[in-house]
Amino acid sequence: MLAAYASTLDAADPLSGLTLGERPEPAVPDGWTTVTVRATALNHHDLWSLRGVGLDASRLPMILGCDAAGVTDDGAEVLVHAVVSDPDWRDDETLDPKRSLLSERFQGTFAARVAVPRRNLVPKPAALSFEEAACLPTAWLTAYRMLFTQAQVVPGQTVLVQGAGGGVSTALVALGAAAGARVWVTSRDPGRAARVRSLGADEVFASGARLPARVDAVMETVGAATWQHSLRSLRPGGTLVVSGATSGYEAPTELNRLFFLQLRVLGSTMGTRDELARLVAFCERTGLRPVIDRVLPLTEAEDGFAALDRGEVFGKVVFTP
Ligand SMILES: NC(=O)c1ccc[n+]([C@@H]2O[C@H](COP(=O)([O-])OP(=O)(O)OC[C@H]3O[C@@H](n4cnc5c(N)ncnc54)[C@H](OP(=O)(O)O)[C@@H]3O)[C@@H](O)[C@H]2O)c1
Repeated sequence: MLAAYASTLDAADPLSGLTLGERPEPAVPDGWTTVTVRATALNHHDLWSLRGVGLDASRLPMILGCDAAGVTDDGAEVLVHAVVSDPDWRDDETLDPKRSLLSERFQGTFAARVAVPRRNLVPKPAALSFEEAACLPTAWLTAYRMLFTQAQVVPGQTVLVQGAGGGVSTALVALGAAAGARVWVTSRDPGRAARVRSLGADEVFASGARLPARVDAVMETVGAATWQHSLRSLRPGGTLVVSGATSGYEAPTELNRLFFLQLRVLGSTMGTRDELARLVAFCERTGLRPVIDRVLPLTEAEDGFAALDRGEVFGKVVFTP
C-alpha cells in the first residue's frame, strides 16, 4: 500500500528522510482492527519524528502520522484515538508509562490502511467530513484537554494563547471562544490578526507585547521564545498549561514569581479516548469545525511538510490517501 514514511532521521534536515512509496499491509494483533484511511492530518510531531525526537533509528522504516478518520472493515465511519496504552491499562491513557503514539512504536496513519486497537475507535458523526474529523485526534484533542481538563476554563475568563497559526493554537482559540472565554492571542506575524479574530479571538498582540491586563490562564506550545511572557502575563493564582516547546526547552523558571503569585504550571499531553469522544460531540453540537489550511493528496505530502517546517501554515494540513 502507498504510505509516507521516515526512512532516515536527520535533526538538521528532517525532510531528507521523508519517503513516499509502497509499504506492507499492516499486521493486526489480537484486539486490533484495520481502518481504511480516508483522511489524515499532519502535526508538528511528524517533523519531530523525522528529526529523531521520539523516534529511534532502530524502528525505521516507520509510517508517519498520528491522526486518521476512515472506515472499518465492517463499514463503520470512525476517528482513531492515537494514544496506544498497554492492553491491561484501565486508567487515563495519557498517564500510562508504557503508552506510545501511532508512528512511534506502531506504524502510523499516512497510509491507505492503519492497524489500531479496537478500543481506540471513536464513531464519526455524519455531520463531520473525514477531513474535519482527521484534525481532531492530536492537535484539537491536545487543545481540548489543555483548556477544559487542565486549566478548567469557564465562560468569562480571559485566556492567552501563545502563537496564532499553529494546529494546536488555532484549536485553542476556536474552542476557547466557543466555550465563552475571552481569548487573547500573540503572533510573530501581524498579518495573521484578521484570521485569528475570525476564529473568535478578542485581541491579537505581537509576540512578547505587554498585555492590557493579567489573564486567568495561558496556553503554551511555543516554549522558550514565549515562556517568560507567559509567566508574566498571569494574574495571581493563574494557570499556565504547557504541551509543547517548538522554539526550545530552556527558559528561566522565575521561581519567585511561581510561589509569590501562587501560579499553577501544568503539563499536558494529548488526551484520553473519552475526551476525544467529548470533543467530537462538542463539534457536532456547536457546529465548530477545525481550521484547515489545505487538503493535499498523500502523494504531495512533502509539500505539506515543507510548508509546516517553514511556519507558513494556518490551521491544519490534511492528506487524503
Ligand atoms: N504534548 C502533546 O501532546 C502535543 C500535542 C500536539 C502538539 N504538541 C507540540 O506543540 C507544538 C505545536 O504543535 P502544532 O502542531 O500546533 O505546531 P505548528 O502547527 O507548527 O505550530 C507552531 C506555532 O508556534 C508558534 N511559533 C513557533 N515558533 C515561534 C517563535 N519562535 N516565537 C513565537 N511563536 C512561535 C507559531 O505562531 P505564529 O502563528 O505566530 O507563527 C504557531 O502558532 C509542537 O512543538 C508540538 O510538538 C504537543
